[in-house]
This record gives sequence, structure tokens and C-alpha cells, in this order.
Amino acid sequence: MTHILVTGTSRGIGLAIARTLRERGATVIGHATRPVNADTIAADFAEPSAPQMLWQEALERLDGRIDVLINNAGLFEQSPMHASDIEWLDRWEDTMRINLTSAAQLSRFAVRHWQERKCAGRIVHIASRAAYRGDSPAHWHYAAAKGGMVAMHKTIARAYAAEGILSFAITPGFTDTSMAGDYLASRGGDGLLADIPLGRVAEPEEIAQIATFCALDAPASMTGAVIDANGASFVR
Ligand SMILES: NC(=O)c1ccc[n+]([C@@H]2O[C@H](COP(=O)([O-])OP(=O)(O)OC[C@H]3O[C@@H](n4cnc5c(N)ncnc54)[C@H](OP(=O)(O)O)[C@@H]3O)[C@@H](O)[C@H]2O)c1
Repeated sequence: MTHILVTGTSRGIGLAIARTLRERGATVIGHATRPVNADTIAADFAEPSAPQMLWQEALERLDGRIDVLINNAGLFEQSPMHASDIEWLDRWEDTMRINLTSAAQLSRFAVRHWQERKCAGRIVHIASRAAYRGDSPAHWHYAAAKGGMVAMHKTIARAYAAEGILSFAITPGFTDTSMAGDYLASRGGDGLLADIPLGRVAEPEEIAQIATFCALDAPASMTGAVIDANGASFVR
């Protein structure tokens, strides 16, 4: 049975990923900032030591073996240009730590785990269309973190493929993760649909399907791939 650690499973894309993987028979340990259920470990990535504690606890709960890491947790918070200098810098640092540094720490633990055990492993990074297209003026930090995630992913893929350690990145466009139905409003209103040839935003289950494919099914030759899922709103 495949042992998988997925971050950010309390809601949205992460919740859909954990559900889809379990339906496929994987043993999944989830994660959120707070306790959610017995299969979820609490760890706030704003704390530099949190990813290490999460990795150790997940290993203990999974009998010392993790086969797949899915870096999904993320923060999408505005940082307006007119904020004070210290506020703008604080938000930059928070977003970098939560969206990029924590994923780097976990990826490093995963690579070292597989190297020590001399076994294969997979990492799936949930990045964003913003990595290539950029984001709004209030989201420099978010786009930079996701761009960094894609660069890190490519580095991991190239460095460890010969050891059977594979890396995949998914770059979703807008994905409706709001339970309350106010998703479009939270992202700028109906106007954003005009920019999506498909005519709608993605569903979390669609991103989960892609992540599950990368985690369980993708052929090894696909390592290093970046998979877009944005309704053709950004083609490259
Ligand atoms: N939705 C989109 O339009 C979209 C588009 C492109 C990429 N993405 C990416 O897809 C991933 C999932 O997005 P989503 O829309 O599903 O997000 P979401 O619904 O806001 O859920 C975010 C998840 O990340 C966790 N998280 C937030 N802050 C954290 C922190 N400080 N430490 C640890 N975990 C934290 C949350 O845990 P709590 O519940 O405990 O806060 C939650 O489980 C993110 O990386 C996001 O950047 C999303």
C-alpha cells in the first residue's frame, strides 16, 4: 500500500486530493494548521520548525515509510502596495515561508528519506499558473513563491531521477475552493471568467485527479513535467 503525506488537507484542493487518493487505496496522512481529524497532523508552517515536526510525526504514523509527498498547503493573501513597509515585508516573508520554504524543507526530508532507504519516491507540488503568468499587484509574493516552487521542482527532478526519485508540478488556474459560493467575488468578480476560454474555473476534484495521476500512475519519463490546469486561460 502506498503511504502518502499531503499538506493542507482541511479544505479545498488538498481535501479533494486526500479523498481521491484514499479511494484509490492509498494510506494518507493529512495536515492543516489545526487538528481536524485523527488522520490529520497540525502544523503551522509560519513556524520554521513545523515542517520537520510534521515529517517526523507522519513517518511515525506511517510505520517509518513515506512513498509520496504532496506539497499542497498554501496561503493566498493580499499584500497591497500601500501597506506600510513593515507590513508588506511581513506578508512577503510569511507567504515565502508557508508557500515555498516549508515545501522545500519537506522535499529535502523526503529526498533524504528515499536516499537512506535506497528506494524510489515521488513529490507532487501544487504550484500555480501565477508561476508563469504572474499575479495581481497585491500578490507579488504569491507569484514569486510559486515561481520558486516550479524552479525547485525542476531541480529535484533533474538531480535525483537516476535514483528513482521523481518530481511533478501542477499549475492550476482559478479553482473553486469556496464552500460558501463566494469564490468568484473573492478573486475579483465575474470578469475573470471572460479570460477563461473554458468558461468556468476548475473544480478541486479536477486538480485532485491530476495529483493522483502524478502520485500513483504517471510514467517515470514524465518526471520534471509541469502540468497546466487553467481552462486555456494561459497557454504556453
Ligand atoms: N484555489 C485556487 O484558485 C488555486 C489556484 C492555483 C493554485 N492553488 C494552490 O493550491 C493549493 C491549495 O489551494 P486551495 O485553494 O485549496 O487553498 P485553501 O482552500 O485556502 O486551503 C489551504 C490549505 O493550506 C493550509 N494552510 C494555510 N496556511 C497554512 C499555514 N500557515 N501552515 C500550514 N498550512 C496552511 C490550510 O490549513 P487550515 O485550514 O488549517 O488553514 C488548508 O488546508 C495552494 O498551494 C494554492 O496556492 C490554488
